[in-house]
Amino acid sequence: MDLRLQSAEGLEALSTPLLAVPVLKGDDDLAITPGEADGLVVRSPGWEGDLSWRAGRRVSVYRSGDGPARVVYIGVGKGLDELDAEAVRRYAGSVIRAAEEMRVGTVALLVPESAALHGTAAHRAAAEGIVLASWRFRELKTGVGEEEAPSAVTAATLIALSGDPSALASSVEEGRIVAEAENLARTLQSRPGNVATPTALGMVALQLAEEHGLRADVLGPDRLAEERMNAILAVSQGSAQEPRLIVLSHDGGGPQDPPLILVGKGLTFDAGGISLKPASGMEDMKFDMSGGAAVLAAMTAVARLGVPRNVVGIVPSSENLLGASAIKPGDVIRTRAGITVEVVNTDAEGRLILCDALDYAVEQKPEAIVDCATLTGAVVIGLGHQAIGLLGTNPALVDEVREAGAAAGERCWELPLWPEYRKQLESETADVKNVGGRPAGTITAATFLREFVKEVPWAHLDIAGTAYGDGNDVPYRRKGGYGVPTRLLVEWVRRRGE
Ligand code: BES
Ligand code: MN
Ligand code: ZN
Repeated sequence: MDLRLQSAEGLEALSTPLLAVPVLKGDDDLAITPGEADGLVVRSPGWEGDLSWRAGRRVSVYRSGDGPARVVYIGVGKGLDELDAEAVRRYAGSVIRAAEEMRVGTVALLVPESAALHGTAAHRAAAEGIVLASWRFRELKTGVGEEEAPSAVTAATLIALSGDPSALASSVEEGRIVAEAENLARTLQSRPGNVATPTALGMVALQLAEEHGLRADVLGPDRLAEERMNAILAVSQGSAQEPRLIVLSHDGGGPQDPPLILVGKGLTFDAGGISLKPASGMEDMKFDMSGGAAVLAAMTAVARLGVPRNVVGIVPSSENLLGASAIKPGDVIRTRAGITVEVVNTDAEGRLILCDALDYAVEQKPEAIVDCATLTGAVVIGLGHQAIGLLGTNPALVDEVREAGAAAGERCWELPLWPEYRKQLESETADVKNVGGRPAGTITAATFLREFVKEVPWAHLDIAGTAYGDGNDVPYRRKGGYGVPTRLLVEWVRRRGE
């Protein structure tokens, strides 16, 4: 995406096939447009009737003579006083959707600004919305059976009403970096299980490291065995695909500084194992590596932004199938931490690959660990598709993660980790069971993970309800992977670097 910036001066003479103007909620409940655009509002009888500030609503007009050939007025859904970054991201996403439908490859958009969005935050959010909305997953389409190639927008000009040009430019660049990272996560997520195998993910990680100046270490079965990562090996033993533990490091701090560690579940296909899942919808279990995709992607943004902290991304990756060597319900695994686990249900495999990765992370004496995983169906029952489940042992860290998520437009809702839930994991034969029964499934999964992080400040994000979806509701998304929580992770690391 070619992103350009320009001031609102001389807007009426700007030569563009399409100019987008935001429509904000006004005091009288009618629409208002930012001052500079007034000259472009063509008033006609009944105009106020179909011009709407409601999110995503649009009206377009053709113009003759110089300047924009067409103007599209797009509802932002909020008034100036309540404008936030997410409303701007969505507005920018709607601009791209409008341009696609009108089949124009270039668009100019006025960026709504308000005092509530300090500095150049609106422009950064607009850049994010544009880059996110332009993502597509087409690498497995040949064009056969398509009547017409989908229209693509390749250039966008952001029109700023105010602000210092160099501050605006660097904000827009930051927005691009974060959104491109999230798009990378979406692409990795959307690859099917036979394409995005653990081996393939490991190769991608090596390539990303090369491209962005990260250190990479990809451990295969032999080194996993040397490292006593028996839980990762146990989950993968029912599959013909080898497991991997992917480690990407960004050395932005001093050599002695403790790292921030991001851990992501990279389960490339979850059939459930011997505790087989039902067939209906099982194809979506290619998305079970969404946490891993977000961690790899976040690491690229951390490197590109040059965050002055040591940051390590760790992704345990495996399939969960039911071959002749698969783990069976009742089997007991001795995990890397030395804790023995009774595998009551082989479909609770995420916590198994994560527990070895978390133990490996703890060994590096991190300042904090944030993990993300499509871990439980229960979080979809509890929070639906509107919020990431957030759990953690350190209230300050939990607050930080919640705030980073709110700023990034990837909202979290906290669930408790009270000690009483630990009882549900007691096992007859081993130290713990890997499932705690039906009640509080998201909490007992996190309680299991807590055994392995011990005293390290840690936050856990259950993204089973938020990592992918049908693409409705949010204009910058499409059906498939959403890349959640890439933006949150980058925002959290950035804030820790300030
Ligand atoms: N990958 C699933 C969780 C999941 C469910 C992700 C729905 C996305 C959408 C996870 O490995 C799993 O199977 N969890 C089980 C745990 C249960 C056996 C305790 C679940 O939630 O049903
Ligand atoms: Mn499972
Ligand atoms: Zn899973």
